[in-house]
Amino acid sequence: MTSGVITRTLDTGIHLRVVPASEFGSAAADLVQTMLRRKPNAVIGFPTGSTPLPMYQDLLRRQRQGTLDLTQMRAVMLDDYLGATGDDPVSFHNWLKREFFDPAGVGSDRLLRMPTDPEGIEEACQQYEERLQRLGGVDLQLLGLGLNGHIGFNEPGAAVDSRTHVVPLTATTTVANAAYWDSSRKVPEEGVTMGVGTILGARAIGLLVNGARKADILRSTLLGPIGPDVPASFLRNVADVQVIADQEAAALLP
Ligand code: F6R
Repeated sequence: MTSGVITRTLDTGIHLRVVPASEFGSAAADLVQTMLRRKPNAVIGFPTGSTPLPMYQDLLRRQRQGTLDLTQMRAVMLDDYLGATGDDPVSFHNWLKREFFDPAGVGSDRLLRMPTDPEGIEEACQQYEERLQRLGGVDLQLLGLGLNGHIGFNEPGAAVDSRTHVVPLTATTTVANAAYWDSSRKVPEEGVTMGVGTILGARAIGLLVNGARKADILRSTLLGPIGPDVPASFLRNVADVQVIADQEAAALLP
């Protein structure tokens, strides 16, 4: 085992792996690689944001070195902004293409895109769920953790059995995300997200958490009450969950 790495199973069954910040991307990439070794055409759900960036870089490095085969992997999206269509700079789809799917050679034929067109969005959300089912469900869902405990765009108050739907975003989220693009684009106030129920339906889940500012919410997620106030706490209700945290994010765990 690498020095400084702590691996524990919490009483709820969640596996927690705490690593130095420099190993965070590689520990997260291991989740993907382990899944693809077992099932080369696995369906994997990918998040955007600052947290998973080191994982995407590590996956691309492994692919360049020839140690990771992404040629059969199928990808699905966790969330996006309502109205972020075409080449909108805030589109999570475009972000994922730029940071990972295009350099990794994952084409649109292997990617299930979250609907974002406001017209007919409710029906499109239902179709998204049906398409997930037709793919055989999600084998591994990767998640970041919002400062308010959101997963995907499931903000506090989210129902445990919710499916893919449109959500109004909280001020915490829109402020946190404003840094992602230039100020000429108004921060969208609604998102489209897999529901908590959709996420919990994945056969395995990887929650990625890094940085000191996430220490409080990681503690509430893992040790506080399970309920809608901290949607990520619902992860403690399901079987196969791995949390990868860097030492700063894990600083408040006993
Ligand atoms: C992004 C997403 C969000 C982020 C969360 C953490 O697709 O679903 O839930 O994972 O807001 O964002 P970062 O990683 O930027 O701190």
